[in-house]
Amino acid sequence: MKKGILFTALFLFSVALVMSQGRRNQRNNTIPLIGVEAPSFTAESTKGTINFPADFGASWKIIFSHPKDFTPVCSSEILELAYHQESFSSLNASLLVLSTDVLSHHFSWKAALEEINYKDRGAVNINFPLVSDDSYRVSHLYGMIHSEESIGENIRGVFIIDPDNKVRSIFYYPNQVGRNIDELKRTLIALQKTRNDNNVVTPANWNQGDDFMVPVISAQEKANIGNPDSPFYQLSWFMTFKKNQE
Ligand code: BEZ
Repeated sequence: MKKGILFTALFLFSVALVMSQGRRNQRNNTIPLIGVEAPSFTAESTKGTINFPADFGASWKIIFSHPKDFTPVCSSEILELAYHQESFSSLNASLLVLSTDVLSHHFSWKAALEEINYKDRGAVNINFPLVSDDSYRVSHLYGMIHSEESIGENIRGVFIIDPDNKVRSIFYYPNQVGRNIDELKRTLIALQKTRNDNNVVTPANWNQGDDFMVPVISAQEKANIGNPDSPFYQLSWFMTFKKNQE
């Protein structure tokens, strides 16, 4: 009799445990969408303990997740980021790279990468943190585990987060396709410009220096189009541009 009660209790406990684990995974493995507060976390990295976002002040933050240390595509991405790290810094953007590998692997991989002369640009120091998420906590908070594609590892995710800690852009790439760092930088610059002047947006293939587009124009500005002092011009009533006067 006692054995029966014990087995029943054990069975019920196991069912409750499995259900709560399932609920936790469901709740946590959600992609933070554009406009929401970027989830906070604390994790270890090659630059010491990271308290996100508190450690990053009023900078823009770009979080990159990657599948695995010592893999070819990931290695090329980290090197490419390292060659661009100063230009991100001059755009007031802090880079963080994260995978589910343990910290000791991150240190060995970083040391090995720093000896490589990639595309004839010489050896480069990696000055941004490689974050270890071996508990999967951050990966779940940011929806980085896409289990149909990548079991137990992160997919290639990118989150651009503004100085107010709001998610401003989300990218996901499959394991087979390396990210385009120039495109991420272009997006960051476009986000910064449209944040500074919230009446402009950027057209397809926009690059720094190109003209902006304007979703709404006042009647007075519209009446002034065609005059030499007007910053605006139109290709149609629904396609208004603003000259880039930088
Ligand atoms: C890579 O980074 O090379 C890679 C990572 C996971 C699966 C396939 C390739």
